[in-house]
Amino acid sequence: MYRCVRCGRNVNALNGFTCGCGGTLEVVHESLEASLEVFESRLSEMEGPYRSGVWRYKELIHPLIGAEYIVTRPEGNTNLYRRVEVSRYTGLERVQLKHEGENPTGSFKDRGMTVAVSEAVRNGASVVVCASTGNTSASMAAYAAQAGLKAVVFIPEGEIAYGKLAQALAYGAQVIQVKGSFDDAMRVVKESSVELGLYVLNSLNPWRVEGQKSIIFEMLHQRGWEPPDWILVPAGNLGNTAAFGKALRELKQLGVIDETPRIASIQAEGASPFYRLWRGKLNRLEAVEPMTVASAIKIGNPVSWVKALDSIRGTDGVVERVSDTEIMNAKAVVDASGVGCEPASAASVAGAKRLRDAGVIDMDEEVVCVLTGNLLKDPDNTVKYHLGELASIDARHMNRPVKAEPDVGSIERLLRQPNSQTVEAVVSLS
Ligand code: F0G
Repeated sequence: MYRCVRCGRNVNALNGFTCGCGGTLEVVHESLEASLEVFESRLSEMEGPYRSGVWRYKELIHPLIGAEYIVTRPEGNTNLYRRVEVSRYTGLERVQLKHEGENPTGSFKDRGMTVAVSEAVRNGASVVVCASTGNTSASMAAYAAQAGLKAVVFIPEGEIAYGKLAQALAYGAQVIQVKGSFDDAMRVVKESSVELGLYVLNSLNPWRVEGQKSIIFEMLHQRGWEPPDWILVPAGNLGNTAAFGKALRELKQLGVIDETPRIASIQAEGASPFYRLWRGKLNRLEAVEPMTVASAIKIGNPVSWVKALDSIRGTDGVVERVSDTEIMNAKAVVDASGVGCEPASAASVAGAKRLRDAGVIDMDEEVVCVLTGNLLKDPDNTVKYHLGELASIDARHMNRPVKAEPDVGSIERLLRQPNSQTVEAVVSLS
């Protein structure tokens, strides 16, 4: 069963994926149970659904679905890192990075996608659709290919990173470039799903949110079910912020955790309608025209803002925004620590620094920053940053390539320079 988060009505089926009142729906489970021993025992699985870092927690996500419907890679099982460079940068002694870019298609989307595609199969769907800033389309295309479903993705024309476009094309999805923004593409998907009876796999579909709860389950499991003080997450369409709040609420109800970590949802300054809503104590989200280098979160009218607001309020959380310069410099630090992520992901680390600098997070508090996507998703902006070619970005951690004659003498002279970035032979690769 589903419940409308706006009017509170219970709804039996996902017709049109929203309530009659236009509100978004959330899954209501008849009963939830959590056996930490069972979750622990599944860690040794070598194959099958329970090897997945999503389906390991099946009883908390989709208890009733039959194994025959489950479409899994498997996904999840992503690492938690500590890096001294990131601690130094953020000013936080105890900060960890949960790297969701280690999922099969390189972003956290696979966690929600395995659940929602399985549900689509269970419902006999044949065509699945989504609007996307790139990662959802890559993930949906891969899972649809595995399940034998036709995939149709709507992307804002010329706005998504090449790594993601390459994936959607390669996995065989039909790619429709919409002349407009992500928000226009999302509107088209909503309308055509009703008119044409298409199965929507955006986080408007509440099963996506159920799958994304597993980021929290797996992270807490890795930490011996000891919650951190804070969880920081980049925020665009707000599916993750919604999922994190629901996961923590359910774990608290089940008695798995006593203390609830505070969620900090981090938006890009030029695409921060949720920040404005929270900061201005507004009653409704006011859409904005989005503008940011972090194309994954270039969203002006996020779908899940009502659920996300519940998450922030329910965890005594905060919403913050960071500039493109802060995002790209934080990314450069995460990258140079050897971990690496795509621009939008680094919003969580940039947010950690900002909240620490403002004294909102204490130096010795335990913080987990979620990295949402892989470094290779957006090579163009990474290279441009290091060449100093990103307009209006004050790149503090540039690593420019240098040119050399092909002989040992020149190389030796080059390596003797105190800082290879200052030699005259700096080139532009453009
Ligand atoms: N980080 C990355 C790398 C993303 O791809 C997204 C969303 C977000 C953060 C924001 O997450 O929507 O749950 O608040 N990407 C979507 C897409 C919109 O189409 O791939 P959110």
